Amino acid sequence: MKHLIIVDEAEKVFHLTNGDISYLLAVEEGGLLAHLYFGKAVKDYHGQRRYPRIDRGFSGNLPDSLERGFSPDTLLREYAGAGEGDYRLPAILVEQANGSQATQFVYDRYEVLAGKPTLEGLPASYVLDDSEAETLVVYLKDAVAGLELALSYTIYADRPVITRSARLDNQSDASIKIEKMASMTVDFPAQALDLISLPGAHVNERHINREALSYGQKRLASRRGTTSHQMNNTMILAQQKTDEFTGEAYGFGLVYSGNHALEIERDQIEQTRVVIGINEEQFSWELTAGAHFQTPEVVMTYSHQGLNALSQAFHSLIRDRVARGKYQHALRPILVNNWEATYFDFDEAKLRPIVDEAKQLGIEMFVLDDGWFGHRDNDDSSLGDWFVDKNKFPNGLNGFADYVHSQGLKFGLWFEPEMISEDSELFRNHPDYRLAVPGRKPSPSRQQFVLDLGREEVREAVLVQVEALLDQGYIDYIKWDMNRHLSDIFSASLPAGRQGEVFHRYTLGLYDMLERLTSKYPDILWEGCSGGGGRFDISFAYYMPQSWTSDNTDVVARLGIQYGTSLVYPPSVMTSHVSAVPNHQTGRITPFNTRGDVAMSGVLGYELDLTKLTEEEKELVKAQVAVYKDIRELVQYGNFTRLKSPFEGNETAWMFTNADKSEILVFTFLVLNSAQQSISQVKLTGLDSDKIYENVETKEIFGGDELEHMGWFEAPADHDFLSRRYHFKAIK
Ligand code: DGJ
Repeated sequence: MKHLIIVDEAEKVFHLTNGDISYLLAVEEGGLLAHLYFGKAVKDYHGQRRYPRIDRGFSGNLPDSLERGFSPDTLLREYAGAGEGDYRLPAILVEQANGSQATQFVYDRYEVLAGKPTLEGLPASYVLDDSEAETLVVYLKDAVAGLELALSYTIYADRPVITRSARLDNQSDASIKIEKMASMTVDFPAQALDLISLPGAHVNERHINREALSYGQKRLASRRGTTSHQMNNTMILAQQKTDEFTGEAYGFGLVYSGNHALEIERDQIEQTRVVIGINEEQFSWELTAGAHFQTPEVVMTYSHQGLNALSQAFHSLIRDRVARGKYQHALRPILVNNWEATYFDFDEAKLRPIVDEAKQLGIEMFVLDDGWFGHRDNDDSSLGDWFVDKNKFPNGLNGFADYVHSQGLKFGLWFEPEMISEDSELFRNHPDYRLAVPGRKPSPSRQQFVLDLGREEVREAVLVQVEALLDQGYIDYIKWDMNRHLSDIFSASLPAGRQGEVFHRYTLGLYDMLERLTSKYPDILWEGCSGGGGRFDISFAYYMPQSWTSDNTDVVARLGIQYGTSLVYPPSVMTSHVSAVPNHQTGRITPFNTRGDVAMSGVLGYELDLTKLTEEEKELVKAQVAVYKDIRELVQYGNFTRLKSPFEGNETAWMFTNADKSEILVFTFLVLNSAQQSISQVKLTGLDSDKIYENVETKEIFGGDELEHMGWFEAPADHDFLSRRYHFKAIK
């Protein structure tokens, strides 16, 4: 096998390359680990990239060195501590027994491993066999503090992806306190870079924000205990001229669902430092003698062909080497969910006709959303009491599930296992199970509170109930929801000195639950959700191959949300539903076809009362379901390309292409029509220019080169909120 990691033993230069990308690092004077390069592959490195030496005022030097031109403060580095004369953002802060936070990690040794080791207790990208990747582990030591830092770098053989993580071993005989420990640092040489991030809000997730980086620091973070709607834990740095199709871009994604911080700093000489990891605010971790701490992973991608290629690298990694289990590559069922159809106002008698109608329309699964348990007739009660409400389901949940199955549909169920209502048996029996600070009243949000999942007995109290239901074998799908963020951060199980661990322990506890459930019930399809897309992150795809993209089902809003989400996440992860009009979030009235086309651009579902549809609408649903069954594989597992951005104008367009480019599906959307419209052109990309394609509906014939270079003019629009779908197949 060809090695992916070349080590120059004499110069201590490490070159990770797969022929597509190269990542280089080297041991510099004083044992400092320096960054050399990340970008398009170079075959062999000949040592020319020596960091110039300049004596700069106020950038100090190494102890015992007379070399004034070499400073940790300006060197491009791989990971830095504090107190060592590097005044830029530190990756690690450790309080030692003498109270000092200073560290000085210097090179000790390295090892190269075949494949990619798993990360203890944490989700991460993986390999199926060792030939897929190689891992470099560089060990740095701080002899005074008695600490060993292991920096891991994995390069995949056939992906433009490097993954990073760090592990700290306390080899001293005293406890230390980690105050900050990032997963990675990388320093970019001086250049103008744009930062692209995915901020948002509930019902307005992941819109694209692009800004030129200037001096000082920029911080993309969550302190909400979870990934959050407000700031996704992924970002892109791009050359200023980079667009969807051309130019260099670097992608970063933290594989974690807790508090994150993605820090960017442009330094005094226009170099850019990136530090990504667990948010250090409200974080500390006691590391006793002999113990170790493992950070989550960061996935880094690179493209020199624009943002689409960068996104495609993320998409394929998430789909193929993060997602797992039976549904990883399986066609996802078309579902109907009763949330926007009934909210809490339902019982079995009211739901049965929806199930009947779903069967008639070709829908494949019925999902029973919130309100089936305890006495939950509104969102004030019952979280924690995961037993069926007999008033709503007199024949038990199994009785209703049997009915759904008898109609030939799968049966799915909603849970919100991380939460507790004050009005619940769980709370009456265990009031201390929620997060609450002694002497203070915890703050409600949606009238609910958060369970202290860092405690094993708390997880167990929920798991026994969930498993009692799943053991009955009639549940085919679970929607795992989370409808508030963490506050009142205090755990009854931890001593005063360890309260800084609560946030991270919560996330580790959550992962422990998810690992146990998803491995114990491998036949269940799991869907992630947190009030829509509040936990849309790479780590969740490790447990759940799909996630509810947003509680906003309005098509105009969804164009932006789905477009932004696609910067990192593939369509197979994004669930999208056709809902009623006027839309429940925006009041907007849009055509049924457009609602279908937006929802068909991800994992399709319906979220409306099917019994209230007109006969004409039912025919439209039938047609959409039939079309989706035909294009489903292409949408869920094809290559997704963005063509026109909703953030740049009135039009949106995107396309799906299968592996051998013999099938192409294009969606175009117009938001507002105008009386004096300009004529839109659509041009495709990434086709086989030698192939001849036929439009499946109109039977028109086009060359691949024609579709790419000339494209076509869209027919004039005659109303607002217009969508169009074009399906091409190669005929030669
Ligand atoms: C938030 C989810 O995003 C919705 O789809 C729905 O499941 C509600 N929670 C139920 O409370």
